[in-house]
Amino acid sequence: MARGKSTTNASFFLLKLLLLCFLPDHSISAAIYPKEALPAKSGYLPVDPATNSAIFYAFYEAQSPTSSLSKTPLLIWLQGGPGCSSMIGNLFELGPWRVVPSQKQNVEHLSLEPNPGPWNRLFGLLFLDNPIGTGFSIAATPEEIPRDQEGVAKHLFAAITSFISLDPSFKSRPIYVTGESYAGKYVPAIGYYILKKNPKLPASQRLNLKGLAIGDGLTDPIIQVATHADNAYFSGLVNERQKGELEELQRKAVELVKMGNWSAATSARSKVLSTLSNMTGLATLYDFTKKKPYQTDYATEFLNIAEVKKALGVNESMEFEECSDVVGDALHEDVMKSVKYMVEFLVKKSKVLLYQGLYDLRDGVVSTEAWVKTMKWEGIEKFLMADREIWKVNGEVAGYVQKWGSLTHVVVLGAGHLLPADQALNSQAMIEDWVLENGQFGRHENGCSSSNFRGAL
Ligand SMILES: *[C@@H]1O[C@H](CO)[C@@H](O)[C@H](O)[C@H]1NC(C)=O
Ligand SMILES: *[C@@H]1O[C@H](CO)[C@@H](O)[C@H](O)[C@H]1NC(C)=O
Ligand SMILES: *[C@@H]1O[C@H](CO)[C@@H](O)[C@H](O)[C@H]1NC(C)=O
Repeated sequence: MARGKSTTNASFFLLKLLLLCFLPDHSISAAIYPKEALPAKSGYLPVDPATNSAIFYAFYEAQSPTSSLSKTPLLIWLQGGPGCSSMIGNLFELGPWRVVPSQKQNVEHLSLEPNPGPWNRLFGLLFLDNPIGTGFSIAATPEEIPRDQEGVAKHLFAAITSFISLDPSFKSRPIYVTGESYAGKYVPAIGYYILKKNPKLPASQRLNLKGLAIGDGLTDPIIQVATHADNAYFSGLVNERQKGELEELQRKAVELVKMGNWSAATSARSKVLSTLSNMTGLATLYDFTKKKPYQTDYATEFLNIAEVKKALGVNESMEFEECSDVVGDALHEDVMKSVKYMVEFLVKKSKVLLYQGLYDLRDGVVSTEAWVKTMKWEGIEKFLMADREIWKVNGEVAGYVQKWGSLTHVVVLGAGHLLPADQALNSQAMIEDWVLENGQFGRHENGCSSSNFRGAL
């Protein structure tokens, strides 16, 4: 998710402290982090032999793989921000267990409950706290935090390579890199880096990249920043005069990008968003239907419990922040830089999924379609002419799928920016069918636009 936190629940924190005071440690551990909910592996992956900087990871194996593990796809998840932890994706969105508040003996506390639509049902699922300095990842010095996508990709490549070496069966597994929001930069960056680097490496060191998926992403900011006024106006959220004000702010941001004044351009984009927020008074721009912000605080509080850190292999003295300002600052000048050219490369060499929640006012459907239609790719006209098919899951309309060749676009109904949190089952159906090329997500169109392919799995 992008930066900006919901409010901390102080009374909740007190209750948790009470709980910690009255129960011996081991029962907390048993109550708070049951063994079956722990990742199969977690810990640190080095990013550079010259330093102690390392990327924190949590890996969950596929729950019901349909092939031998050495052939079972591996999904990698990258959170946005810049500087927000993938552990929020893990424990609030798409991981197998979610942190929820619950009542026990009249005391409110945190517990874990199974996610009804985890992304590791059929695939291995690897969460990486990226870049270093984010979440539980370690930046040995602030200077080592990447300031551009090349730097991000270099570290990710080292970390993923190191992860693959942990188990001989990982080597042959197809890799799909997925992510959300600011990962609309990271996902293309690591994909591009892998495909440029692979041919220069011996076969044994190549990464087996098969596809890239971006949810509610920021990828081509100069085009995306210019869509907020129209999006809000045609959603009925602002009037014509306010639309004009927003357009004026958007023009400034675009102008600053064209001048290469990156820092000021980033601030100008923030101004567009804060003005939209101010005009509409919405609880969050991540989802215009929500009455309060996404409740990610529970996951953050959970991750700050000493026993939880211990169970995950993290130094207990480390404070967990949902989003790191230090990382946000390091990448401030990167925010408005486009990686569209990387997506243009990737769509030729691999396959790409772009999906958005209908209610997202930050990096939603309109924002994505605006840059996609400017892509330089021989398939773009055919893609733009392709039908936007009605997509159903278990007989109900889940959204729309538009696909041509290696590019797939999905609109998900009933969802905002943190889409898997809002639509667990449908997001699971989407990622599974896209990876496995089932039904409407298949390579060959079959004219069948509303079948229930979930039943066939
Ligand atoms: C960038 O834009 C800001 C705001 O308009 C301005 O104050 C600053 O001087 C500009 N910097 C450069 C290097 O042009
Ligand atoms: C919007 O900004 C104005 C001027 O700063 C302020 O008076 C007003 O309270 C803000 N409205 C909201 C909804 O935040
Ligand atoms: C945890 O971090 C603290 C502070 O950086 C350090 O002194 C300590 O040695 C670390 N503990 C372990 C087990 O690494």
